[in-house]
This record gives sequence, structure tokens and C-alpha cells, in this order.
Amino acid sequence: MEAKRSLLAIFLLLSFLSISTAAPTRKTRTRKPCKSMVFYFHDIIYNGHNAKNATSAIVGSPQWGNKTILTGQNHFGDLVVFDDPITLDNNLHSKPVGRAQGFYIYDKKDIFTAWLGFSFVFNSTQHKGSINFVGADPLMNKTRDISVIGGTGDFFMARGVATLMTDAFEGEVYFRLRTDINLYECW
Ligand SMILES: *[C@@H]1O[C@H](CO)[C@@H](O)[C@H](O)[C@H]1NC(C)=O
Ligand SMILES: *[C@@H]1O[C@H](CO)[C@@H](O)[C@H](O)[C@H]1NC(C)=O
Ligand SMILES: *[C@@H]1O[C@H](CO)[C@@H](O)[C@H](O)[C@H]1NC(C)=O
Ligand SMILES: *[C@@H]1O[C@H](CO)[C@@H](O)[C@H](O)[C@H]1NC(C)=O
Repeated sequence: MEAKRSLLAIFLLLSFLSISTAAPTRKTRTRKPCKSMVFYFHDIIYNGHNAKNATSAIVGSPQWGNKTILTGQNHFGDLVVFDDPITLDNNLHSKPVGRAQGFYIYDKKDIFTAWLGFSFVFNSTQHKGSINFVGADPLMNKTRDISVIGGTGDFFMARGVATLMTDAFEGEVYFRLRTDINLYECW
């Protein structure tokens, strides 16, 4: 009787263990995005002559630079704040669907690279809410992946990856980024 009981106890323990070890394998994640979107945003950098049109400005520079012109050495140390129009196609003059708002810092002296922290803020009939992005932006790469770390409104709890591509680059006054957003968590 005693032996039977302990056998049962062992059996119960084993089945409990097998459930708890089996559980994580059931969590295998699918790599297929639950939502994909493409947007463009347009950055007109203040250059001393375009205060009226500029959508971004250098707000911090190293001691050896200034806030009018991006510094040498791959702009290392410059901090730029932006409020850029977002469009559905690559035309600066298309009706904006939202604003890309945040900052980028140039954070390496010997390579042209930046670090981005910004939000897409939507207030259109199509989209309401925001998507939040952060990540390293190695500008010489044709495509760069940054993280979608969250969202609000239509994009509540969104998480995923955004692939950036420089779609136009005009003499450090204007650039346009194509942003392919793939969300892997949708609510
Ligand atoms: C501002 O933008 C308008 C419209 O694109 C353009 O005609 C004008 O030349 C720009 N002004 C400056 C100072 O860049
Ligand atoms: C800013 O720096 C640039 C490049 O070093 C220089 O040409 C320009 O005169 C400076 N502007 C101001 C306002 O100090
Ligand atoms: C969003 O758009 C509506 C309608 O145009 C406007 O009333 C509202 O103030 C806007 N909100 C923001 C945060 O821009
Ligand atoms: C940049 O490109 C290199 C080489 O193609 C690749 O290994 C790296 O993952 C890319 N970095 C990002 C952030 O996309």
C-alpha cells in the first residue's frame, strides 16, 4: 500500500514536471508580422537660411562645433530635434498623415552613424495614436533595423521592427526616410 502510494506520488510529480517543462516549447513564436505599413518622413535641417521651412534643428553640439552647421568628424556629438511630416508616398508636398517627432544624435567619430529616439504621432482619419521607435541607425547601411517598442491608440501595445531606408539625401539640408514597419505584436 505504502509503495503504491509513493509510486503515485512520483507519477504525479513526473507528470507535473513534464507539464512545466513542456509549457515553454508551446510558446514558439511565428515570425510572420501581424501588421505591415510603409511611411515616408521628411527632414529639412536648419542651415542658417531656412528657419521658415526647417523641420529640424541642432540643439546641442560639442564645444568645437556650433548649432548652425553639423560639425565635422561625422557630426559626432550633435543632437538634432525634429518634427517632420509623415506621408504615404515619397512626395514632400503630399498631405501629411502625421508627424515624426523626436531626436537623433551622431554618436561615433570615425563612422557616419546615429541613434534615434522618436514617435510617429498620427491624427488623421486613417490612423489615430502613436508608434514609438528607438535604435542605432548606421547610416551607411542601405537598410537599418530599429525597434518598435510600443504604441498607443490604434497601435496599442505594438511591438516589432522598422526598416529604414534613405530614400533621398540632399546636401545635409533635406533627407527622406522610407520606413517599413512590421509589427509582430498586435492587439
Ligand atoms: C521653403 O519651401 C518653399 C516650398 O517648398 C520653397 O519654395 C522655398 O524656397 C523654401 N524656402 C527656403 C528658405 O528654403
Ligand atoms: C559654424 O561652424 C561652421 C563650420 O565650422 C562655420 O563655417 C560657421 O561660420 C559657424 N557658424 C557660426 C554662427 O558660428
Ligand atoms: C487631431 O485632429 C482633430 C481634428 O482635426 C483636432 O481637433 C485635434 O486637436 C487634433 N489633436 C492633436 C493632438 O493634434
Ligand atoms: C548593417 O549592415 C551590416 C552588413 O551588411 C549588417 O551586418 C548589420 O546587421 C546592419 N545593421 C543594421 C542595424 O541593420
